[in-house]
Amino acid sequence: MFDRQKRGDRAVLVLPHSRGEGDSLRRAEEFAELVKSAGAEVLGVINARVEDPNPRYYIGSGKANEVAEAARALEADLVLVDHLLTPVQERNLEKHLGVRVVDRAGLILDIFAQRARSHEGKLEVELAQLKHLATRLVRGWTHLDAQRGGAIGNRGPGETQLETDRRLLGERVKQLTKRLEKVQVQRGQQRRSRLRNTVPRVALVGYTNAGKSTLFNALTTGDVYAADLLFATLDPTVRKLENLSCGPAVIADTVGFIRELPHDLVAAFRATLAEARDADLLLHVSDAADEERERLHGVVDKVLEEIDAGDVPQLHVMNKIDLAGAEPRIERDGTGKPVRVWLSAGTGVGLELLRQALGELLGGDRVQAPLHLPLSAGRLHARLKAAGAISSETIDEHGWQLLIDAPRSVIAPLSGGDANEAQLLRELLAVAE
Ligand code: GTP
Repeated sequence: MFDRQKRGDRAVLVLPHSRGEGDSLRRAEEFAELVKSAGAEVLGVINARVEDPNPRYYIGSGKANEVAEAARALEADLVLVDHLLTPVQERNLEKHLGVRVVDRAGLILDIFAQRARSHEGKLEVELAQLKHLATRLVRGWTHLDAQRGGAIGNRGPGETQLETDRRLLGERVKQLTKRLEKVQVQRGQQRRSRLRNTVPRVALVGYTNAGKSTLFNALTTGDVYAADLLFATLDPTVRKLENLSCGPAVIADTVGFIRELPHDLVAAFRATLAEARDADLLLHVSDAADEERERLHGVVDKVLEEIDAGDVPQLHVMNKIDLAGAEPRIERDGTGKPVRVWLSAGTGVGLELLRQALGELLGGDRVQAPLHLPLSAGRLHARLKAAGAISSETIDEHGWQLLIDAPRSVIAPLSGGDANEAQLLRELLAVAE
C-alpha cells in the first residue's frame, strides 16, 4: 500500500532544552535510542537552548541557521526535533533547512507503525498517524519535492495519503474508527470470556527497555520478540502463566512506557493498554541497574493514572540484578504481603521468588473448598458452572459434590435471589476464610 524505503534515514538531531529541565544527557541518549529504533543513522546532535519558543521555528533563528549548515555539511536527509512542533513550525523549518523535519510525535508514530503486530495495533497506529497528518496536510509538500525520500515520517499511510485531499482522509479516519471499534468490542468479549473463566490476570508494565518482554518469555517460556529496541512490544501478547500455587493465571505484555508520550497517542493506545487497566495485578518492572529508576517508575505510574489503571494493585519487579549487583529476594510490607521482588529475567535468578509472590498475591483471595449442593439448588449450580468456579464435580441422588476453585470476587455476587442459595454461598465463603 505504501512505499518503504530500503535505505535508512541520515539524520541530524536537534535537542531543545530549557534551563530548569532535568538530566539533559539522559534525555539526549534516550532520544538517540528512539531514533535508532526507527532505523535512522545519527549523523550529528545539536543542542538548542529554548527559553522562549520562537513561534516561527520553535528554536531560535540563529540556531535554525546552524542546523541548516550542519544538515548540508553532513548530507543529512532528515532533521529530528525532540519536541512537539506545530504544523506551521515544521513547515517553516523544512523550508529553511531544505530537508524533511519530523518532531517527537512523528518519530514515535513512525516507531509504532513499524512495531504494531496485532490487527488492532495496526489500526490504532494508522488512525493516530492520519490524525497527525490531517493537521499538517494544508501545507503541501511541494517545497520538498526535490529532496523527498527516506523513511521516517513517510511510513504508514505515507506520501500517497499526503497527496489525497482532506475529504478522503476524513473518510479513511471514519472507516478506521469504525473498524477499530469493532475490534475493540471483540477484544472486550475475549477479556470478558477470560473473566468468566475466573483466571486471574496479570499485566506487565514498565518503562521501555526495563525487561518486560524478557520477563514475559522467562515466565511463559515462549519466544515473544525481545530486542534492545525501544517499544519492542507494541501489542499486548497474552499467555498462560503456570506453576503458581494459586492455579493458572494469564499474563499480558504491554507497550513500553516513555516520558512525554504525546497525549493523543496515550488516547490512541488506551485500548491496547486496557489489558493493564483490567488486570488483577500489575507487574511493574524496573531496571535495577538504572540510576534513574525512581523517576522512571514515577513516569510509568503517571501514564497508568492517565489510562485509569492507577488503582490496580502492583507488585514491583526490580529486574537486571545481575547488572546491579544485588541479591534475589522478596521485600514485604508490614503485613507480610510481597511488594517487591529482586530478580534477573535475563539469567533467571529469582524467578522462583516471583512465582512464589504471584501465587501469594493472586491466591490470597481465592476460594478453594468442597461444596455440597442439593438437587433443589440447580440454578446456583448453573451459575457456578457458568462462572467457571467448579474445578470438579460428582452427582448422585443427594445432589452435587463440588470442588470450588475461584476468586472470592467471582463467587460472592452469585447468590441471586434465593435465600437458601444465598445461605449456601455464605457458608462456602465462611469455610474458605
Ligand atoms: P520495550 O518493549 O521497549 O518496552 O522493552 P522491554 O521492557 O520489553 O525490554 P526487553 O525485554 O526487550 O529488554 C530490554 C533489554 O534488556 C534487552 O537487551 C534484554 O536482553 C535486556 N535484559 C532484560 N532483562 C535483563 C536482565 O535481567 N539482565 C540483563 N543483563 N539484561 C536484561
